[in-house]
Amino acid sequence: MLLTTRVLLALALEFTLAFALPSGSEHSPRIVHESRRSLPEGWTPVRRAEPLTTLPFRVALVQSNLESIEDYLLEVSHPDSPSYGNHWSAAKVAETFRPSAESVDVVRAWLVDSGIDAQRVKLSASGGWLHANVTVEEAERILDTKYYIYEHSEHDLEHIACDNTYHLPERVSKHVELITPTLHFDLKVKRGPAMKRSAAKNVGQPGFGPVSPKTTGKIQTIFNELEHCNEQITPICLRALYNFVYTPFAASKNSIGIVEYTPQAYLPSDLDIFFTNFSKSQIGQRPTLVSIDGGTIDVPYEGFGYNGESDLDLQYAMSLVGKEQNVTLYQAGDDVVGASFNNFLDALDGSYCTFEGGNDPNWDAPYPDPYNGGYEGPNQCGGITPAHVISTSYSYNEYELTPFYMQRQCAEYAKLGLMGVTVLYSSGDYGVAGYSGVCLDADGNPSSSGSSFAPSFPGTCPYITSVGATQVNPGAKVTDPESACEQKSAVDTYLSNYPPSYPTGTYNTSGSRAYPDLSANGANYVVAIDGGYELVYGTSASSPVTAAILSAVNDARLAIGRKPIGFINPAIYTAAFKHAFNDITNGTNPGCGTVGFPAQPGWDPVTGVGTPNFPLLLAAFLLLP
Ligand SMILES: *[C@@H]1O[C@H](CO)[C@@H](O)[C@H](O)[C@H]1NC(C)=O
Ligand SMILES: *[C@@H]1O[C@H](CO)[C@@H](O)[C@H](O)[C@H]1NC(C)=O
Ligand SMILES: *[C@@H]1O[C@H](CO)[C@@H](O)[C@H](O)[C@H]1NC(C)=O
Ligand SMILES: *[C@@H]1O[C@H](CO)[C@@H](O)[C@H](O)[C@H]1NC(C)=O
Ligand SMILES: *[C@@H]1O[C@H](CO)[C@@H](O)[C@H](O)[C@H]1NC(C)=O
Repeated sequence: MLLTTRVLLALALEFTLAFALPSGSEHSPRIVHESRRSLPEGWTPVRRAEPLTTLPFRVALVQSNLESIEDYLLEVSHPDSPSYGNHWSAAKVAETFRPSAESVDVVRAWLVDSGIDAQRVKLSASGGWLHANVTVEEAERILDTKYYIYEHSEHDLEHIACDNTYHLPERVSKHVELITPTLHFDLKVKRGPAMKRSAAKNVGQPGFGPVSPKTTGKIQTIFNELEHCNEQITPICLRALYNFVYTPFAASKNSIGIVEYTPQAYLPSDLDIFFTNFSKSQIGQRPTLVSIDGGTIDVPYEGFGYNGESDLDLQYAMSLVGKEQNVTLYQAGDDVVGASFNNFLDALDGSYCTFEGGNDPNWDAPYPDPYNGGYEGPNQCGGITPAHVISTSYSYNEYELTPFYMQRQCAEYAKLGLMGVTVLYSSGDYGVAGYSGVCLDADGNPSSSGSSFAPSFPGTCPYITSVGATQVNPGAKVTDPESACEQKSAVDTYLSNYPPSYPTGTYNTSGSRAYPDLSANGANYVVAIDGGYELVYGTSASSPVTAAILSAVNDARLAIGRKPIGFINPAIYTAAFKHAFNDITNGTNPGCGTVGFPAQPGWDPVTGVGTPNFPLLLAAFLLLP
């Protein structure tokens, strides 16, 4: 009896203490939690949001142990680590980064104190998100911000988002990763059909974002001889450039995946045209289609803007790995709303969409598709096993996305690395400038007269492997060193060995991340597109080629019972790998009124560590446990 009373007393005391502590938002100073420097291109606020509109308010809680993610990743991917290759299971990843109970409690208490009744606040099944339906009026008060309806100049979708900043009490802020819907506009990776249709009329018009293949048009004559590699790149040229000859031993254990975002789609007939000329034994072979969120190659539009990327990626990845190795095609999004990188990551990692969120109906493509004719199934959440090497030739301008959004996604790439997946992204086609050559002004806003460099995402994420492009010099032999080719229009003005002496603020000198990490040829690819051949260039080409080469390295390791190479960056920057790459020392990545950075001996921000020398790269990776 006495015991019970004491316990009750103790409980009561604790209760009082808890209440005596400053817990309401009014007791803790509010700080800016997230801010946005500028609106993404094309979006304008058209009116204030109605105060009584309901918002699906979602608070993403900070993940535990995220501060150690780099250490964990290095442990399994640095050649000097005793745990090299001891990749984690998906379950261990999910468990390690699950938000703490303290974060749940602090954020829930803050919402309740802010007048959101406890009944209205729900914890997601996995404990990573707190959800509540709140009105615009409530959200504006809680976050000290204003909501607007935004419209896009080129398509008629509306988007609700808040002004340039939102605020949280300081002691809550450290438990919150981000809140939606607030600042974020994650544009669809490919825009709507109406836009693409007009783009497709002009075969030379670049597609969306800093990475998309460009074409110099149809060609009548194709060559399949090494003497012509300075005019046309075909699989034999790449094999010669990178000494890449390999027959798989462990194809059934190995895997390589190419990601495409609908309405980009390959044409089966284009594969066969290409195989007829360059890899006869593969005529009739197709990639293994893994459809994500209604992803389909059955798209009712044709043209370079629709088929160029997928045809290029698959023709080169498939012919280089050869017929024994199946290539997986991750086709993401239906042809109405499409998809973005988060939709893809959701499908790979159930812990991303349920534990840590990452999928938001307001900025990643919502599934079931709300528009007529779209995919009516649910957003795919987990269930898709990532291939050992995954190549993506799409990207965003970094300035369009918020830091939290990128950090969250970047951490997810680190998790894929922990699981032994090599994640490759093309570095971008505009040199140091963003999409269409846009640069930034002194405030970080995109501006046609801006002189600060505009990086692309996820190139800026240190946990992906960013692949740049090189070219065989006009008139040169295939055995000559290549030079950097980041922007075809400026090839003739390339300067070599030009020291960057730009004004402060032109680029971030902190040196925490520069890309690309490595490179491969990206110019004059012969690609079968829409029934004929075109010459294609851009970093779009470099990534699938590098993926094919790295996949062969995985095959050799798997064949002798080793683990796949996973996140390769810690390895390729070590001295042991120095000779595994052809050092590219000629060329720059011009943009923003500058020549960019000149390629130099050793690593440089144009070509990374260089282009692969397959036998030496293979040898270096086979020396690792
Ligand atoms: C918010 O409202 C929607 C639609 O009425 C409902 O499906 C959802 O469960 C609600 N969410 C919460 C957290 O109450
Ligand atoms: C490749 O895919 C085909 C068709 O799905 C299948 O029959 C074959 O077994 C696969 N090969 C390997 C090595 O996995
Ligand atoms: C490409 O294939 C077509 C059709 O078989 C053939 O006519 C042409 O000569 C081939 N070109 C080369 C360079 O192999
Ligand atoms: C460097 O690239 C330029 C432009 O493509 C080319 O003219 C020149 O020959 C190259 N120099 C070397 C040493 O490869
Ligand atoms: C430069 O990069 C560092 C590290 O990512 C970051 O903390 C800093 O804010 C950046 N500086 C500017 C001006 O963006």
